[in-house]
Amino acid sequence: MIELTEKEEKMLSGEKGDAKREAMEILVALAKIYNAEKMIPVKSVQVSGVSYKTIGEAGLIYVKKLAEHGARVVVPTFLNPAGMDCLQWQKMGVPKNFADRQMKIIRSYSKMGIELSCTCTPYLAGVRPKKGEHIAWAESSAVVFANSVLGARTNREGGPSALAAAICGVTPNYGLHLDENRIAEVLVDVKAKLKSINDYSAMGYYIGKLVGQKHPAFKGIPGATEDQLKSLGAAMAASGAVALFYAKGRTPEWKVSDSPEKISFTEKELKETKEELDSEEKPELVTIGCPHASLKEIAKVTKLVSRKKPDVHFWVCTSRKVRKKAVEKGYVKKIEKAGGLVLADTCMVVSPIWEMGFRVSAANSAKAAKYLRNLCHQRVCFGTTKDILYRRK
Ligand code: F3S
Repeated sequence: MIELTEKEEKMLSGEKGDAKREAMEILVALAKIYNAEKMIPVKSVQVSGVSYKTIGEAGLIYVKKLAEHGARVVVPTFLNPAGMDCLQWQKMGVPKNFADRQMKIIRSYSKMGIELSCTCTPYLAGVRPKKGEHIAWAESSAVVFANSVLGARTNREGGPSALAAAICGVTPNYGLHLDENRIAEVLVDVKAKLKSINDYSAMGYYIGKLVGQKHPAFKGIPGATEDQLKSLGAAMAASGAVALFYAKGRTPEWKVSDSPEKISFTEKELKETKEELDSEEKPELVTIGCPHASLKEIAKVTKLVSRKKPDVHFWVCTSRKVRKKAVEKGYVKKIEKAGGLVLADTCMVVSPIWEMGFRVSAANSAKAAKYLRNLCHQRVCFGTTKDILYRRK
């Protein structure tokens, strides 16, 4: 049975207004389902349900009403990617009707006091939670990165529960907020030699499918870079529902059960997974930055395309903050000169690429490959950044 503080009781009774009452009702309902005994304060929130493509007219009306009824956030809160770059949507080729509706959603969130930074990598854009910090994040790749690579604590929030946490400043204390639920049940022995981001992504895709919601612990990747771990986690969260993993010698925590299930990942699984994800065509659109690209990833793309101009449309998706740094470094200018776009606030999956005429797209991310196929009706090419940018057939 949940015990609420006096302040939380006041929110629930409606003394602090209807918006807080409704938000607290959502949190209390969750607490009952998961047997949470108390609420805990959260330091930051990431809200999903931003793209008009994913939430549609019903979502737009819901968010608009919430803002008009006085919903206001009380902790630093950020948005997941929207359906377009708010400044460059015309360059992208987004239909005007879509853009108008997308802007209504963004303006409603802004009215609630939410920062207009629409990214799935808030941790690269100024919000980097510390080890042990409680947060309420919603986007699955951000959740798994925060729990695993940063050692912060969040459940996989839904859009409404994350927004409720932002409005009340608390979340029910259950799931991955508790020590006892942060133990890996599966030990993965990585025998394959992983080099690129898409190798890590392919491994994540394979392991995620096998483990589902369980927490895997990896042996054999102590030298993985942050970008590689970002890709690994995103893929596991997409093919399974992984919200936490460990990598020996690499993640701040390493807690494995006494008798874990054991899996090996060898060259054979790596090769088969890459083949499964790749349609082996020449793409019409190459997309890089799932999860949103770091400055290092943008630097690598810049180097590649400055040497040889790709003969294909290509997007690099990132956050506003990282894009700004990329402008300062001169990367954006060079990528644009090579025919590409560096987009902020959006991504290949939540933008209306089908409506924009694309039918065959490419990614170096297994998460993007999965959703481009399932949600965007694309035939999908999967490979290294270099491979997909210069593919001939
Ligand atoms: Fe981010 Fe979009 Fe990929 S939200 S994780 S870039 S599908």
